[in-house]
Amino acid sequence: MRTHKIAAIGADGIGPEVIAAGLEVLTALANKDGGFRLEVEHFPWSSAYYLEHGHYIPEGGLERLKQFDAIFFGAVGSQQVPDHVSLWGLRLPIAQGFDQYANVRPARVLPGVKSPLTNGEDIDWVIIRENSEGEYSGNGGRAHRGLPIEVGTEVAVFTRAGVERIHRFAFELARKRPAKHLTLVTKSNAQRFGMVMWDEIFYEVARDYPDVRTDRELVDAVTTRMVLKPKSLDVLVATNLHADILSDLAAALSGSLGIAPTANLNPERQFPSMFEPIHGSAFDITGKGVANPIATFWTASMMLEHLGETAAAQTLMRAVEAVTASKVHTPDLGGKANTADVTRAVCDYIGNAAPQA
Ligand code: NAI
Ligand code: MG
Repeated sequence: MRTHKIAAIGADGIGPEVIAAGLEVLTALANKDGGFRLEVEHFPWSSAYYLEHGHYIPEGGLERLKQFDAIFFGAVGSQQVPDHVSLWGLRLPIAQGFDQYANVRPARVLPGVKSPLTNGEDIDWVIIRENSEGEYSGNGGRAHRGLPIEVGTEVAVFTRAGVERIHRFAFELARKRPAKHLTLVTKSNAQRFGMVMWDEIFYEVARDYPDVRTDRELVDAVTTRMVLKPKSLDVLVATNLHADILSDLAAALSGSLGIAPTANLNPERQFPSMFEPIHGSAFDITGKGVANPIATFWTASMMLEHLGETAAAQTLMRAVEAVTASKVHTPDLGGKANTADVTRAVCDYIGNAAPQA
């Protein structure tokens, strides 16, 4: 029996609700003769914890997390704490501290889900986001605070090593997909240093992947292409900021933020990787029991894939698709079901599914 150690951090808002739902379906999969078991430890780190203790991650916390095979993360953000404090207090120390430089964000219109696009069924993308540097490197400062001459800088940092490894990761992933097509997204007309270097390194790496078709697009132009010609895109690689924005657009185009998953990967596996829905704490629906758990289920499937549980990962995606197709939808998808209804439907499907192994 294979054992995987999972650190669960529900954190804020609907985070704990969707993580609890995710753990329910993971348990159903493990119980289903999956040949594996999950050893889950819950970490209470959240904004409430911060307000009580003065920190999100206690002394030695990251060291403890290192003992796990994967991190299953909800969302962080509270109306009582400024967003830059919560983000830099919990999610970024894990993502950056564990060198989870490859952020993988698939987007697809699931069966039964309505895209705002008429040609939404053409969406089948993976956005690869550089997750360790760039615009979110934390390099900047403030001076002359409160004075008329106050200044704030936010310096985007691009390193050759950082850019090369994300391009290589994107090519490797693109190579495994039927279309084998990778689009480079930058803004190298207006930003002529870091972005031009991105472009140059992309084409250097491309020489090692002659089987992958490439093209390039400026980040503003690619938004129109995502809307007007979704089929013309397959895998996209972009910087931390650009891909952050593009993946929210991709989520909306594929039906709802409530279905979009992401994996923060340390591909070398020196550290655990982190799996989370891309949405935030969703204050407006917290505690109402209506959060869509599909993003978290899809995320859980990516986590199983990463842990080598490919059969269970596929069963979970089949279950998710069967349930979205049968219109058991939460309100964000136009339905009346709640989190528990969707979770139960997915667990039932898993329970009735053919044996995995
Ligand atoms: P949000 O993703 O929390 O909510 C945006 C809208 O989408 C809301 O109307 C919400 O109800 C809806 N929504 C999100 N997830 C949903 C789900 N699973 N089911 C149904 N509807 C869903 O983004 P917002 O409002 O910009 O941010 C709220 C807080 O979350 C902020 O503090 C922000 O910093 C934080 N945040 C954290 C993230 C993370 O932990 N990775 C990512 C994005 C935001
Ligand atoms: Mg975002």
